[in-house]
This record gives sequence, structure tokens and C-alpha cells, in this order.
Amino acid sequence: MKRFTLVLALVAGATASAQGITTGQSVQVPEPPELTTPAPEVPYVPTPEDAVEGMLKLAGVKPGDVVYDLGSGDGRIVISAVKNHGAMRAVGVDINPERIAEANTNARRAGVQDKVEFRQGDLFDADIGEATVVTLYLLPSVNERLKPKLLSELKPGTRIVSHGFDMGDWKPEQQVQEGGRTLYLWVVPERGGAGAPR
Ligand SMILES: C[S@@+](CC[C@H](N)C(=O)[O-])C[C@H]1O[C@@H](n2cnc3c(N)ncnc32)[C@H](O)[C@@H]1O
Repeated sequence: MKRFTLVLALVAGATASAQGITTGQSVQVPEPPELTTPAPEVPYVPTPEDAVEGMLKLAGVKPGDVVYDLGSGDGRIVISAVKNHGAMRAVGVDINPERIAEANTNARRAGVQDKVEFRQGDLFDADIGEATVVTLYLLPSVNERLKPKLLSELKPGTRIVSHGFDMGDWKPEQQVQEGGRTLYLWVVPERGGAGAPR
């Protein structure tokens, strides 16, 4: 089978590497016979447990919240949101079917399968309007492209927490360190209100 070099075109450079995601790697992979799932825009790198707890604490997750993790990996943020922070429900979206299967297994093991849902798909197409909290561990370029969707589809007051990467010119309300990771918090403003980013 023909082989080709896939260069992960993730240009976040040293910042991404410092936050646990390595970029610019060259990997030899066999050419797939047919692409049935779009390639992930961000490699799978799980958030360490202390940073997971830090993210949910920074977001102030509480009973009644509906938490969405966009690019949910093995489901650890979604599972902890309902198990340790009392969220009413939590939803994970991931493009990789293996991650979805793994997350469902982990949710069953944690006994929270009734309160969580894992949806396979592109996070840019996800219906996120019901979220009261959104968590992200993506890349600066992906955060930047996601910003208009977050601002137009989330209700004012929804909290957004990102592990590792900011949102360009939309300045965070808080920035904290947890387990060597930088965590950022934004609150979705009223549409067109003073200070609303574009
Ligand atoms: C850095 S991992 C973060 C996993 C998890 N949120 C955590 O913090 O432990 C990024 C995840 O995003 C997923 N992903 C990448 N591009 C995506 C896309 N366009 N839509 C949905 N998921 C995506 C990957 O499959 C991977 O599981």
C-alpha cells in the first residue's frame, strides 16, 4: 500500500507543546483506503485529573448545570462534571468513534451513564445551545475559529473554560494555574452588549 507522510499541520508551536499537545510531528501512516471519518483537528491528549478538577472548579459547576466538552476524548471531564460537581447532565462531542466508545465504557464504569451522553461528530456542527458550561482543550487556532459559534449559539451567562489556550482578542475573566496547566474562564456576554467581542 502506498505510504505517505502526514505532517500534523498544527502550528501552535512551543505554546501548545508546553500545554501538553505536541505539534509539528512527522508520522508515517498508511494511506487509508477510504476516509469515513474526518481527521481530528486536534490530537488526543487527555487533561490530567488535577487540571480536570481545576477546570470544573473554575467554571463553578453546580447542580442544574449542563456541561458540554467539545472534543471530549475519554470522557473524563463530562464524567467528573456529573459525578464530582453535581451537574444535572453532561455531553461530550468527539469526532473519533474510538474515543466515543471509550467514553461510554468509562461512564458505565463510573455509574453515571444515565446523566451523560457522548455524541460522535464535528464539534463545529454540534448543537450546543442548551449548555450552561462549555469546556475546551483544543488549540489556539481552533479556539479562534470556534469563538463566533460560542458567541452566537450559547446563552449569555454561559461559562467557557479552556485548558491551555486562550481566545485571541477575547480576554478571559480569570486565568489560573492548576498542576502546571493554564486554565482560562470566559462568560458569554449579552449579545451586542458593552465589551462583547466580535
Ligand atoms: C486534546 S484532546 C482533549 C480531550 C478531553 N477534552 C480532555 O481534556 O481530556 C482533543 C479531542 O478533540 C477531538 N477532536 C479533534 N478535532 C475534533 C473535531 N473537529 N470535532 C470533535 N472532536 C474533535 C479529538 O479526537 C480529541 O479526543
